[in-house]
Amino acid sequence: MPNPPFSHESSYIDQPCTIGEGTKIWHFSHVQTGAVIGKNCVLGQNVNIGNDVVIGDGVKIQNNVSVYTGTTIEDDVFLGPSCVLTNVSNPRSQVNRKSLYEKTLIRRGATIGANATIVCGITLGRYCFIAAGAVVTKDVPEYALIAGVPGRQRGWMSRHGHPLNNPDSKGVMTCPESGLRYQLSKNEAKETLRCLDLDEDSKLPEELTQGKQPYRSNRP
Ligand SMILES: CC(C)(COP(=O)(O)OP(=O)(O)OC[C@H]1O[C@@H](n2cnc3c(N)ncnc32)[C@H](O)[C@@H]1OP(=O)(O)O)[C@@H](O)C(=O)NCCC(=O)NCCS
Repeated sequence: MPNPPFSHESSYIDQPCTIGEGTKIWHFSHVQTGAVIGKNCVLGQNVNIGNDVVIGDGVKIQNNVSVYTGTTIEDDVFLGPSCVLTNVSNPRSQVNRKSLYEKTLIRRGATIGANATIVCGITLGRYCFIAAGAVVTKDVPEYALIAGVPGRQRGWMSRHGHPLNNPDSKGVMTCPESGLRYQLSKNEAKETLRCLDLDEDSKLPEELTQGKQPYRSNRP
C-alpha cells in the first residue's frame, strides 16, 4: 500500500477491521471489530468507531465522537467536535436491545456541527448542514440547514457551506463562494434542492476544494 493508514500509538485498533490508505487515527481513539473505514479519513482524539460501522472515504471526525453500531457514513462527511450519534431510541439499562440497534444513514457530504445530537433511525440527506447544538429527530432533506432544539429547517446551505438565499424567478440560487448554482423545486408541497453545475455524487473538482471566503464576508 503506497500510503498506509496511520494510527497513533495511544489508539486501539481491534482486529479484524478495515482501514483505507491515507487514513489517520489520532490519540486515544478506538476502532472496534468489523468496522470498515475508507481512504483518507481523519479521526481526531478520543473517537470511538463501533462494531461493524461503515465509513466512506474522506470523512473527518473531530474530537470526542462515538459512532455507534448501526451507523453508516458516506464519503466526505464532517462530524463536528463532541457531536452525539445514538442507536437506541428507548434505552433501558435492564432491557438488552443489542439485536435491535436502529440504523442511521449520514449521506455524502453532510456536516454535523459541534455538540449536535442525532436521534437514531433517520437519514441525513446529502450535503445537509446540522448547526451546532441542534437535536435532529427526523429525516433531513439534501442541502437543508437544520438548527435548534428540536431541529427545524432554517434554509439551504451550499456544498461549500454558505446559506443560499434570494432565488430568481426559476428558483435558482448561487453560492457566493463557488459560483455553483442550485435550483429549488416544489413537488406536492415538498421542496428539493439540486446542484445545476456538478454531479452531486462526484468529488469536488480540485480547484473548488480550497476555501477562499470567510463565512461572514457576504453579510449585508
Ligand atoms: C449554522 C451556523 C453556520 C449559522 O450561523 P449564522 O449564519 O452566522 O447564523 P446567524 O448569526 O445569521 O443567525 C441567524 C439566526 O439563527 C440563530 N442561530 C445561529 N446559529 C444557531 C445555532 N447553532 N443553533 C440555533 N440557532 C442558531 C441565530 O440566533 C439567529 O437567530 P435570530 O434571527 O432569532 O437572531 C452556525 O450557527 C453553526 O452552527 N456553525 C457550525 C459550527 C461548528 O459546529 N463547527 C464545527 C467545526 S469546529
